[in-house]
Amino acid sequence: MSLFARAVRPVLFRLGGGDAESAHEWTLHRLASMPPAAREVMRRRYAFSAPVEAFGVRFPNRVGLAAGMDKNGLALPAWPALGFGFVEVGTVTAKAQPGNDRPRLFRLRESEAIINRMGFNNAGAAALAARLAELGPIGVPLGISLGKSKVTPLDEAVEDYLESYRLLHPYADYIAVNVSSPNTPGLRSLQDRDFLSTLLKELSGPVPVLVKIAPDLTEPAIAELLEVCLEHGAAGLIATNTTLARDDLAPGDRHLATETGGLSGKPLTERARAVVQFVHDETGGRLPVIGVGGILSADDATRMLDAGATLVQLYSGFIYKGPDLVKAVAQSARPSRAAAAR
Ligand SMILES: Cc1cc2nc3c(=O)[nH]c(=O)nc-3n(C[C@H](O)[C@H](O)[C@H](O)COP(=O)(O)O)c2cc1C
Repeated sequence: MSLFARAVRPVLFRLGGGDAESAHEWTLHRLASMPPAAREVMRRRYAFSAPVEAFGVRFPNRVGLAAGMDKNGLALPAWPALGFGFVEVGTVTAKAQPGNDRPRLFRLRESEAIINRMGFNNAGAAALAARLAELGPIGVPLGISLGKSKVTPLDEAVEDYLESYRLLHPYADYIAVNVSSPNTPGLRSLQDRDFLSTLLKELSGPVPVLVKIAPDLTEPAIAELLEVCLEHGAAGLIATNTTLARDDLAPGDRHLATETGGLSGKPLTERARAVVQFVHDETGGRLPVIGVGGILSADDATRMLDAGATLVQLYSGFIYKGPDLVKAVAQSARPSRAAAAR
């Protein structure tokens, strides 16, 4: 058992009387205030170089921090020191918003899973732009995930995304369009052809734009979305967001199955990989994919890359396994079939 699993995780999981969001906030603040010397110690232990290029961006390794962990870019300098080869901040919205009422984050420990209904709690695009301007480059590529403000009606969503885009694209190595969170009413309907076509047309420019999709879409719906992405020059896909399904939960966690929100972690592994495989096969590898969902081991990451992903991201796996997982994945990540074919 790793040091993280033996000594660190039990402490973190007890913080705030076991409240998952308290532990998250505490950890984020500790990482944000880590002195440069401590970051250097971390970097020596965890950073691993295995460069790869995707959609015109050079990455020091294939493992990224998934969106949602550091929505406001609070702890940005810490993530590369923990071994991440890129970081996706956000999801941010044009307007600052508090998100849903607490509790809204639940650990399903036996299942190595998480249910969340955060609802895009964030300080807003302008605050993130100010933070990024103050901070400067973080040494690894930065993705910025954009979502729709909750108060903005769906028929004004394009302008809402554009407002965030205008403020933030100067700081981004790529933009992720999040149309797949289950926690903003109606958001997933923005995966439809008409909206996505308009949005991608408006966002076309020098910064690569990737679309993050839900694992709950049917194959015909994904195929239609891929057509739109190819037609309007999306640089790639991020697959997948959390699922509304509640399959494969361990018996000890079934009492949490009724909590509203998106499920991530181990129960998502197979589905996320199947979506990545479908995207790869359907596009003949023409759209680079960031594979995310249920990567809890280096083997999971290898299978995701074999399914056609060029890069991978971690969220739940990092919560349960810590930075050892980041390094293990970075070390073991072989070139994907997709990359090898190019
Ligand atoms: C607490 C929490 C918050 C999240 N917030 C976001 C978000 O703001 N934007 C987004 O695109 N994905 C968000 N996600 C989804 C993750 O980025 C990722 O797609 C999903 O959790 C599957 O990966 P995993 O199984 O490694 O956790 C969130 C996930 C969790 C657990």
